[in-house]
Amino acid sequence: MDGFEFGGRIKVKLPEIGLGTWKIGGSFTPDHSMDEQLAGIVGRAIDMGYSLIDTAEVYGSGNAEQIVGNALKGRNVFIATKVWQSNLKYDDVLRAAEGSMRRLGIKTVDLYQIHWPSDHVPLRETMRAMEKLVWDGKVKFIGVCNFDEHLLDDARSYLSREDIVTDQVSYSLLDRGPEDTLLDYCRKENIGIIAYEPLARKKVFGGMIGQALSTVAKKTGKTEAQVSLNWLICKGALPIPKSTDIRHLKENIGAAGWRLSEDDVMKLDKAAGETGPEYSGK
Ligand SMILES: NC(=O)c1ccc[n+]([C@@H]2O[C@H](COP(=O)([O-])OP(=O)(O)OC[C@H]3O[C@@H](n4cnc5c(N)ncnc54)[C@H](OP(=O)(O)O)[C@@H]3O)[C@@H](O)[C@H]2O)c1
Repeated sequence: MDGFEFGGRIKVKLPEIGLGTWKIGGSFTPDHSMDEQLAGIVGRAIDMGYSLIDTAEVYGSGNAEQIVGNALKGRNVFIATKVWQSNLKYDDVLRAAEGSMRRLGIKTVDLYQIHWPSDHVPLRETMRAMEKLVWDGKVKFIGVCNFDEHLLDDARSYLSREDIVTDQVSYSLLDRGPEDTLLDYCRKENIGIIAYEPLARKKVFGGMIGQALSTVAKKTGKTEAQVSLNWLICKGALPIPKSTDIRHLKENIGAAGWRLSEDDVMKLDKAAGETGPEYSGK
């Protein structure tokens, strides 16, 4: 599968699409009722070719990481996980990373991301801990989520030798917020955008966007989901749709490895510009 190369001083190669895991094994508390089946489904996704999985210590209060760990079975998958807001003090970051590695059954986290910025812990302290994790061989690459370009600048200024390679933000045909200023900054600095809620939790399939997706899907012989995910890839972003439905998993991975025409991207841009107030993500 074709992929992206992101990073300025520090470079990382990533696939064009990944798998999200929010609500796999619980939301903010664990739900163990489907652990085995879910590990089987994530395992099938890896068999299909998903080579990047995004998870977080807070998903199912660790259970999503545990399920992903059970699905890996020694296979080489790029693992992106996240440290929650309540663990951003220096020692807490180091401890949180150990917890994630234990649940995932891995010795190194490929991409360790700050899940949300904090108003309480100085960013300098958190970034020092992130850098220490890289120097100790526990983390390969540092990422953040939900940072605007000013916070990105700040965070990067606290790193001495490492750099931030990705910013994970809400981005879809229904939430084009990153296009205001963040995308330009990230393009200039070659920081990767990982697009969360890339299907706007299924809301892209409705309204004017849904109609435009259906027109482009008919024309290209792809599905609406594939067109909406490929629109993000065309914008240079890496979508991480969540699915536990085998048909959807197959469909979504089929969004990679090709490109919509410029004309179709513009048609979708236009439809997305006519949807009214910005999607709030909830
Ligand atoms: N960093 C952050 O702050 C942050 C915030 C939110 C999310 N995330 C990450 O981003 C990932 C994706 O976001 P999300 O899960 O909230 O939203 P999403 O990927 O936009 O939507 C997921 C929903 O779409 C459905 N779906 C998936 N593929 C489909 C298809 N081909 N056709 C129809 N329905 C489809 C899924 O149901 P089925 O399972 O039935 O397919 C699920 O209900 C998360 O899982 C998480 O890893 C990060």
